[in-house]
Amino acid sequence: MSETIIKLENLTKKFDKFTAVNNINLEVRKGEIIGLVGPNGAGKTTTIKMIAKILKSNSGRILIRTSGDLEDLQKVSATVTHMGFLIDIPEFYKMTANSLLKYFAKLQNYPKKEINERIDFLLAFFNLTEWKHENVKNFSKGMKQKVGLIQAIIHDPEIIILDEPQTGLDPLARVDIRNGIKQLQSQGKTIFVASHMLYEISEICDKIAMINRGSIIGFDTVENLASALKTREITFEVLEPLTPQDVEPLLSRLIEKLNPYLDKDLDPSISTIPIKYYPEEKELKIFYDGNDTSIGEILKILIKEFESDFTVVSYTQEKTSQLERVYSQMVKDNELNIQNDEIKENIIFLEAIAACLFFAAIICSEFDKKTGYIVFPKINKYKLILGKYLGYPSAEKSESVCCL
Ligand SMILES: Nc1ncnc2c1ncn2[C@@H]1O[C@H](COP(=O)(O)OP(=O)(O)OP(=O)(O)O)[C@@H](O)[C@H]1O
Ligand SMILES: [Mg+2]
Repeated sequence: MSETIIKLENLTKKFDKFTAVNNINLEVRKGEIIGLVGPNGAGKTTTIKMIAKILKSNSGRILIRTSGDLEDLQKVSATVTHMGFLIDIPEFYKMTANSLLKYFAKLQNYPKKEINERIDFLLAFFNLTEWKHENVKNFSKGMKQKVGLIQAIIHDPEIIILDEPQTGLDPLARVDIRNGIKQLQSQGKTIFVASHMLYEISEICDKIAMINRGSIIGFDTVENLASALKTREITFEVLEPLTPQDVEPLLSRLIEKLNPYLDKDLDPSISTIPIKYYPEEKELKIFYDGNDTSIGEILKILIKEFESDFTVVSYTQEKTSQLERVYSQMVKDNELNIQNDEIKENIIFLEAIAACLFFAAIICSEFDKKTGYIVFPKINKYKLILGKYLGYPSAEKSESVCCL
């Protein structure tokens, strides 16, 4: 296993009383691509800004290995050249792509003699060569995003931190960026990428950290995260569409024959039936028990026993849909935990008030021998003091005595 190159330890960031990043712990190893996935406002950019030293954490620390041991990021001056950042959608000054990239390369102390070659190489890689001498201000969003990525890696850093690198890109440009990131990994670079695009992330990342409301709610490989799911699904594409009147009886027969391999405790929020047919896609979706051996058995039965009903042409186990389910399951669990914590906090608060009232009652009470009541004469005294303080002199006349 390769060595840890970035370590986030109990990292917390607050904006006034609001906790944007809550005590997170993460380790990134050399050569890995780690994805930070979370909904809007989860704390991704805030985390990245702390790594980029744009924001200071309230507590916890970030450790980094430039050479030798892990060191506190705040004390390492070499991080500027060691890391490359793309944060948010980049906005650039009115400059040509060439002069802009030259400026960044010089800023990062890239060897002067090699700058032109490096710029040409990267512009070609991202299909921007013909735009080299055009003004970046006039570039489309996707082109600006690519220039932003080039700017992040122009000085050939070891660690590359990218915030939503594929936002606003068309599918082809997304593939360019995806390939670019993969290529950087093949050169031994370590990449940390934040995104809410689950598909893109699952395609490129070795591990995924899921973040919600500032807390890490899961951190593992896509496969391990998916295996935490009780149910798994597999999709079979058939050659010819099934005729509508055949679908119902066919699904009943399929459920009967495949019964030993189907998920017996299917979550009704996912599906109420273990096999579904999607006419437009000509696909059968099967929720099975998650055992790898079951896939082979299901396939055998579909081919042998349903030969006259349909022909299976392919099967897929989509990573994204599994990941989406893991993600929404984890977010739901996390929200539930937060709600439970809030309820517990409220109960503790109410218990504390009740205890205070109880002790106040004991302190203020006296036993009235004449009547046999427990009375609270001191309450009147406090009422008078409070009344005066609040500007109600009539409170002085109050004679009421509270009785139990
Ligand atoms: N400078 C700031 N002042 C106050 N609150 C902030 C500041 N920056 C971020 N926040 C808040 O912190 C939380 C996390 O924001 P952050 O930008 O890290 O989210 P994100 O996960 O990057 O979201 P998105 O997917 O929308 O980019 C949000 O609720 C945001 O409003
Ligand atoms: Mg963000």
